[in-house]
Amino acid sequence: MNNLNHVRDQFKALTQTVNGKPLVYLDSAATSLKPQVVVDRITQFYSYETANVHRGAHFLADQGTMNFESARTTVKNFLNASSTEEIIFTKGTTDGINMVAECYGMNFLKENDEIVLTELEHHANLVPWQNLAQKKNLKIKYISVQPNGELDLSNLDQIITTKTKLVAFSGCSNILGTFIPVDIIIKKAQSVNAVTLMDAAQVVAQKPINVQALGVDFLVFSAHKLFGPFGFGVLFGRKELLEKMPPYQFGGNMISEVNYDKTTYNNLPYKFEAGTPHVEGAIGTEAAIRFFLGLGYNQIFEHEQDLLNYGTTSLQSIPEIKIFGEAKDKAPIISFNLTGAHHSDVGQILDKQGIAVRVGHHCTQPLLKKFGLTGTVRASFSIYNTREDVDKLVEGIIKAKRMLL
Ligand code: ALA
Repeated sequence: MNNLNHVRDQFKALTQTVNGKPLVYLDSAATSLKPQVVVDRITQFYSYETANVHRGAHFLADQGTMNFESARTTVKNFLNASSTEEIIFTKGTTDGINMVAECYGMNFLKENDEIVLTELEHHANLVPWQNLAQKKNLKIKYISVQPNGELDLSNLDQIITTKTKLVAFSGCSNILGTFIPVDIIIKKAQSVNAVTLMDAAQVVAQKPINVQALGVDFLVFSAHKLFGPFGFGVLFGRKELLEKMPPYQFGGNMISEVNYDKTTYNNLPYKFEAGTPHVEGAIGTEAAIRFFLGLGYNQIFEHEQDLLNYGTTSLQSIPEIKIFGEAKDKAPIISFNLTGAHHSDVGQILDKQGIAVRVGHHCTQPLLKKFGLTGTVRASFSIYNTREDVDKLVEGIIKAKRMLL
């Protein structure tokens, strides 16, 4: 019995029509649809369980605190972190990276230190480091990307050197779909004692993550790409590093004792969680992780790889289609252009047929410039997609071709 057989029943979004056509949702790299179990869990929280956490002395507040902290334990197990102290709740991937740039980078990197990134990075894992580099007079070096979308690791020894103090990389390109050989990069960074940060935004719904086995120092992801709520994410940080980092924001919850002249800070992870937290975010994320793990990684991976392969072959049957990103190890993401047509026009025509794709620069402007592009159409697949969805995409593109070329 395949756990994915009835998975579409969990997604009410897929029962609607858009522009008079049944919705074909091919934009899961931007955000995944939300299963009913997650929607129900959040509704239950708002309907019956609303209370602030870590504060009140009443039943709902205690229950809320328990549920909130249970979510932290679920995330800790999901990432195989060694302790819940290493799990910081954030607003999302971008927030987590900014937190590390600010609290680690501003305090522990010094003039002329080098940061290494890859050319595949999303703006979220690029701009915070540029800002830091400007403020601290640091140098940024890039691991380059090859035309097929894979990283060129041939000169890694020249890029990551004893001057490198931090290496930040995505686990998977959000535009080309390339899975990055993160273990090689982490090992190299460790050999020169550089701190590592992995942007797992596009990996988290694809492959199991084991932060201890990886040996990564920081790892970030957003719940909304993992069938969970918006505005919520996780920063995993190695305890030893988090302990020496100053807080990110200041206010309630992150304190131990406040006097008019002096404040001491709370223990981990609360030191980094100022203010009332996103309680339903945590609770909804726990429901999302349970739902996701219940489906089984192998079945998810097999299903999505089948859609990737079927989609790639089907799109290649249209001579004017040019696909960008042909890595051997690839997530179910296909970026392409219809030669002679603008990506936005293709996107609009697909939308008129109820097919949701993302078009544009996908927050990777430097990478697109390197490839001589201003944008692409991106179709990304998830557990609820089918080969029929791929067929509809192909039909849609053929229609676009008739209209535009
Ligand atoms: N980072 C998200 C994407 O790739 C929004 O679409």
